[in-house]
Amino acid sequence: MKVLILSGNPKKTGLCESVTAEIRQGITEAGAKWEEIRLSDYGIERCHVCGEGWGTCRSTHVCAFGEDGFTEVSDRVASADAVVLVTPVYWGETAETLKSFLDRFRRCQFGSEGVLSGKPVLLVASAGGTGNGVLTCLEQMDRFCRHTGAVIFDLVGVNRWSADYKRPLARAAAEALASGRKTGTP
Ligand SMILES: Cc1cc2nc3c(=O)[nH]c(=O)nc-3n(C[C@H](O)[C@H](O)[C@H](O)COP(=O)(O)O)c2cc1C
Repeated sequence: MKVLILSGNPKKTGLCESVTAEIRQGITEAGAKWEEIRLSDYGIERCHVCGEGWGTCRSTHVCAFGEDGFTEVSDRVASADAVVLVTPVYWGETAETLKSFLDRFRRCQFGSEGVLSGKPVLLVASAGGTGNGVLTCLEQMDRFCRHTGAVIFDLVGVNRWSADYKRPLARAAAEALASGRKTGTP
């Protein structure tokens, strides 16, 4: 079992990183392998919205502008057995780095034929400011999963006041995911 942690977090310390550390630990405790992609290490641009709303991605399942790191990250998502999407909450949404990737990936891999279809995905949102916006951020990632056919394994929302009891929850969820527990409708 190989679990890909796809992170929108630009910071190497702080609340979101502390939750991500628990996720890595949970996967390790399950005896599985993890790799982490920090999207802030890439310069993945927003979708160019080719043509009149659809580009060649609709038929080729490849982004025409994938050389900015998009294709590389997409290939690593495709080769993972399970995925964790983890992000700080910005404006009640995912970090823009993650949003840019998810927007383009969805266009290339939507529906039951996509590489995420049937694959379990754990969604984690960390709201370190007011604590507002967890629900809309998770909902945004939830919608991405529905469009790509990914199976939502679980949703974890964390803020500064819940972190002490949510970090162990994130760890347990990651361990269950990496153990191969089946949830949802494939
Ligand atoms: C542009 C921007 C927008 C943010 N919007 C929210 C928000 O809607 N809700 C919230 O609780 N925190 C918000 N935050 C705070 C982040 O969720 C996060 O806590 C902060 O970037 C610090 O990261 P850390 O908590 O991982 O240390 C925002 C931060 C930034 C930079």
